Amino acid sequence: MAGYSAWDQDSARSIIAGLAHLEGATLPILHALQDEFGHVDPQAVPLIAEALNLSRAEIHGAISFYHDFRTAPPPRRVIKLCRAEACQALGCEALVAHLAHDHGIAVDDRETGADVAVETVYCLGNCALGPAALVDGELIGRVDAGRLAELCGSLAGGSHAGARA
Ligand code: FES
Repeated sequence: MAGYSAWDQDSARSIIAGLAHLEGATLPILHALQDEFGHVDPQAVPLIAEALNLSRAEIHGAISFYHDFRTAPPPRRVIKLCRAEACQALGCEALVAHLAHDHGIAVDDRETGADVAVETVYCLGNCALGPAALVDGELIGRVDAGRLAELCGSLAGGSHAGARA
């Protein structure tokens, strides 16, 4: 999460106050908070609502309508999993299902706050060896759910030993 400040109520208040005068201030405020903290913390909702004289439901509505906003801190590490056509033909969708069912890891879940996330990409140029994944710049071919879950565990522990193609 390098580059983002830890959530801080006072900084959030001053970011909100600095933008509250804008017409349609909700989105600029949400973007500014996400730029600062990496996410829009749920604690920001009442602050924004109060500053803009809107209901909390309206602020929640804006956050959930725009998929750019996250309400949990971004993952420290990201594993990219290819779900484009060739990898689909080689079973990546079954892999995604196994990952969720057997290991409790949901691909593209932006709200877990987990240290390591698995996110979809479309083609890593490793089509013949799909399903393909990219871990810290390293391509991994013929990946399966067990291997990905293992990588998530090792990355969360600060290394990615064993991530060889
Ligand atoms: S389609 Fe998956 S690497 Fe190209």
